[in-house]
Amino acid sequence: MLHETVVQGLWLILPAYASNMLATLVGGGPPIDGGRSWSDGRRILGGGKTWQGLILAPLLAIAIGALQHAYAADVGFGVTDFGTSPAYLVHVYALALGALLGDLGASFLKRRLGKERGERWLGPDQYDFIAGALLLAALASLATMAWTGSWWLFEALTLGPFLAILILTPGLHLLVNGIGYLVGVKEVPW
Ligand code: CTP
Ligand code: MG
Repeated sequence: MLHETVVQGLWLILPAYASNMLATLVGGGPPIDGGRSWSDGRRILGGGKTWQGLILAPLLAIAIGALQHAYAADVGFGVTDFGTSPAYLVHVYALALGALLGDLGASFLKRRLGKERGERWLGPDQYDFIAGALLLAALASLATMAWTGSWWLFEALTLGPFLAILILTPGLHLLVNGIGYLVGVKEVPW
């Protein structure tokens, strides 16, 4: 069923979305690049990438993933849990931290392309955190195979839900950020 596929995809990627959104709320303070510039004279990452966002947001997102994990069997739609205990905590954290690392990588490239902080970069702005989240979760669940006996991400994320994530993310990201902009927690609506 199509709606189940969509729910399953969004469910799995929710810790990444949460982490990305939480960074906007809890970010601030010293920038990761320490204000330093790259050899091209532009900031390495820019003022929008802070330690507070990078460290706090994924930790807070663990709470959301842990709740999802606890209730996965009750919500229906065939949604997945996040693996066996305690490996699920590693997988959730990997999704959440990976999201912000992907975002960091995109900001590095944005600065190299001469784009200022907050300037729009259609495509990477929407997909950077998804790519980072899935990549780190793939690696993390490969690492936890020794405990779990299976490669969690590839058991949990089948082709349908994966495609649902890819197809829905640009619109969903714009919607979420648009709301963030309207309520005043985001400086730009992308
Ligand atoms: N944020 C943070 N630390 C991070 C990531 C995000 O503090 N590691 C906060 C910043 O306040 C940032 C906001 O979340 O402004 C929104 O993130 P994002 O859109 O990724 O940053 P931009 O300011 O748009 O900068 P960039 O052009 O580099 O994407
Ligand atoms: Mg941005």
